[in-house]
Amino acid sequence: MVQPESEIKLEYDSKGMPFRRLGPSGLRVPLFSYGGWLTLGQSVVGDPCKEIIKTAFENGINMFDTAEAYNKGECEKELGRVFKELGLRRTDLVITTKLFWGVRAGPNAGGLSRKHIIEGTQESLARLQVEYVDVIFAHRCDVNVPMEEIVRAFNYVIDKGWAFYWGTSEWTAQQLEEAYHVANKLGLVGPVSEQCQHHMFHRDRAEKEYAPIYKKYHLGNTVFSPLASGLLTGKYNDGIPKGSRFDVEKDFFSSTIKALQSPEGQEKIRKVKELTKLAKEELDTTPGNLALAWVAKNPNTSTVILGATKPEQLLENLKALKVIPKLTPEIIKKIEKILDNKPESHPTYGRPALDEFGKHLY
Ligand SMILES: NC(=O)c1ccc[n+]([C@@H]2O[C@H](COP(=O)([O-])OP(=O)(O)OC[C@H]3O[C@@H](n4cnc5c(N)ncnc54)[C@H](OP(=O)(O)O)[C@@H]3O)[C@@H](O)[C@H]2O)c1
Repeated sequence: MVQPESEIKLEYDSKGMPFRRLGPSGLRVPLFSYGGWLTLGQSVVGDPCKEIIKTAFENGINMFDTAEAYNKGECEKELGRVFKELGLRRTDLVITTKLFWGVRAGPNAGGLSRKHIIEGTQESLARLQVEYVDVIFAHRCDVNVPMEEIVRAFNYVIDKGWAFYWGTSEWTAQQLEEAYHVANKLGLVGPVSEQCQHHMFHRDRAEKEYAPIYKKYHLGNTVFSPLASGLLTGKYNDGIPKGSRFDVEKDFFSSTIKALQSPEGQEKIRKVKELTKLAKEELDTTPGNLALAWVAKNPNTSTVILGATKPEQLLENLKALKVIPKLTPEIIKKIEKILDNKPESHPTYGRPALDEFGKHLY
């Protein structure tokens, strides 16, 4: 159903936001998007949700990520309510949601069976108060469902017009290969995007494991947790501030908090402090914006999903757009020296490495 013009109260203005294609698809996604994990419908409810989304939209962010599992559907409900109240044009928005964990217990209330993919999609659409989402993600792979059933079910959802594309989240490269193989064999569409954790302290899957997948299928990453839940802003350098994520969600993050006290954790804090110095002295920016710009610069990143509990955090994080052009090869070299965690290339066993052009012939 075409949305009546009388419902539109806020027109979209990209405000200079760069756009990239979502992997091999024709869909244009903003380089920075916003997601509501642990925030919308959970630590942030009611009008403050509207303030965050309005701030995002008015500053060029028109893509919003959620999941059925985010506080058992409450995040989707808040987003749906706010889109309506703000009077946003559906065609201006890119809405993504994810299925896997469900919103209630039950043998078929989650996972990636055809039953849950179809029923879960319908329930998400109802909570979001929309007729379709732009991309529907498999929030994790379900190893107990045949891949053919998963691929067929997501294609059914697309054919019904309930989603335009499908994607995966935290699948292994092997699981993705199987999905593409099945889709190609059956003449169906494969995933266009992975929603994968990628930040300065979490690199292997996004930078090494998926390398052949990017080359063969042009998969685009919708990066999650780009600030390592806030660690890369430096806010945890001297303990856990009251009201921060690690304070509010201390049970969920108990192992992360414990790991921060270990020698490895303390080493991360030391690196954040060094990155802070580099950011300030050479780029006139913050460590958080350096971290966001760094992951946005990666050519396999389609969008970086920002998290924020307040509009001010979003405005601060969007300043990272101005840092991206400052990341020269010399600065990247300095960052790599501090991080000292660049994933190693696959071994050549003594044979000479391929040159730049040879590498692209995979
Ligand atoms: N597919 C998946 O499995 C998966 C998993 C996780 C996330 N995601 C998606 O990715 C989105 C982003 O992930 P994330 O929220 O973990 O991202 P993140 O950027 O790593 O962390 C965001 C949190 O850091 C803090 N923060 C952000 N900007 C700040 C600033 N300028 N100064 C100080 N603190 C700041 C805020 O928490 P406090 O203010 O509470 O400290 C904010 O909620 C999620 O909302 C979700 O849509 C997907």
